[in-house]
Amino acid sequence: MNFSSTKAVISGGASGLGAGVAKAIVDAGGQVALLDINEEQGNAYAAELGTNASFFKTDISKDEQVTASIEKASNHMGGINTAIGCAGVLGNGRILSKKGPMPGDFFQKVVDINLVGSFLLTREAAKHMQQNEPNEQGERGVIIHTASIAAFEGQFGQIAYSATKAGLVGMILPAAREFARDGIRAMAIAPGIFETPMMEGVSDDIRQSLYDSVPFPSRFGTPDEFALTVRHIVENPMLNGSVIRLDGACRLQ
Ligand SMILES: NC(=O)c1ccc[n+]([C@@H]2O[C@H](COP(=O)([O-])OP(=O)(O)OC[C@H]3O[C@@H](n4cnc5c(N)ncnc54)[C@H](O)[C@@H]3O)[C@@H](O)[C@H]2O)c1
Repeated sequence: MNFSSTKAVISGGASGLGAGVAKAIVDAGGQVALLDINEEQGNAYAAELGTNASFFKTDISKDEQVTASIEKASNHMGGINTAIGCAGVLGNGRILSKKGPMPGDFFQKVVDINLVGSFLLTREAAKHMQQNEPNEQGERGVIIHTASIAAFEGQFGQIAYSATKAGLVGMILPAAREFARDGIRAMAIAPGIFETPMMEGVSDDIRQSLYDSVPFPSRFGTPDEFALTVRHIVENPMLNGSVIRLDGACRLQ
C-alpha cells in the first residue's frame, strides 16, 4: 500500500513509538487518528500534528470504547486502511515478591490492556477495512502490532508483560490467515529497547548496562527507526503473518 495514502488508527498514539509513527504518516501526507487514554497529551499532540491528525480518548481494554472510537475515526478520515497497536503498559513485578504475591487482578489488568486491547483493535479495524475497495494488489488494509523481544526472552520480573507480548505474537498468524481472503495483512514488530517515555525512569547506570546489551548499534532505538519499519510493512505486501525483531541484535538475559 502507498504510505502517503495511509488512513491509520494508532492506539497509544499520544506518546513514544505510536507518536513517532503518527508523525511519519502525517509527514508523508497520510491521516492518523490517535486512540489513547491520555486525553490531554492526545489532544495536544493531534493539534501539533495538524489537520491530518485527530484524537479520540479511548481505553483500549474497553470493548465499547474501542468500537465507538474506531467508528468515529473511520467517519472522520473517510475510512481506515491501517491499524497500529502501540498502547501498552510494562506491568513489572515478581510472582512472589517481598511485598507479597502478585495479585491476580494486577496480572489481569496487564492482560486486558496489552493483549485484549490488541484483539479489540484488530477486530474493529478489520471490520472497517473489509468495507474498503481493494487496491490493484487486492489489499484492503494492514494491521501492525507492537510486541517486544520480551515475548521471546522475558526477564526476571516480567511475568505479566512477557506473557501478554507472547500472546500478541500468537495472534498474528491466525489473524493473517483469517483475513487473507479480505486482503488484510497482520504483522507485529518486536522492538528491543527504545527511547520513549516508558524508559524515562531508567537510571544512568542501568541505561549504560542496557546500551552495553545491544551489540550494534549500542544505544536505544528511536521512534523514527520504529516508524521506518512500520512504513516498510505498509509498503511491502509480502510481509504478512510474522514478527520482525527490531533490536540491534539484543538478546535479553
Ligand atoms: N520503549 C521500549 O523500549 C519498548 C520495547 C518493546 C516494546 N515496547 C512496546 O511499545 C509500545 C509503545 O510503548 P512506548 O515505549 O511508546 O511507551 P509510552 O508509555 O511512551 O506509550 C504508551 C502509550 O500507551 C497509552 N496507554 C496506556 N494504557 C492505555 C490504555 N488502557 N488505553 C489506551 N492507551 C493506553 C499511554 O497513555 C501512552 O500514550 C508498548 O506496547 C510497549 O510495550 C516498547
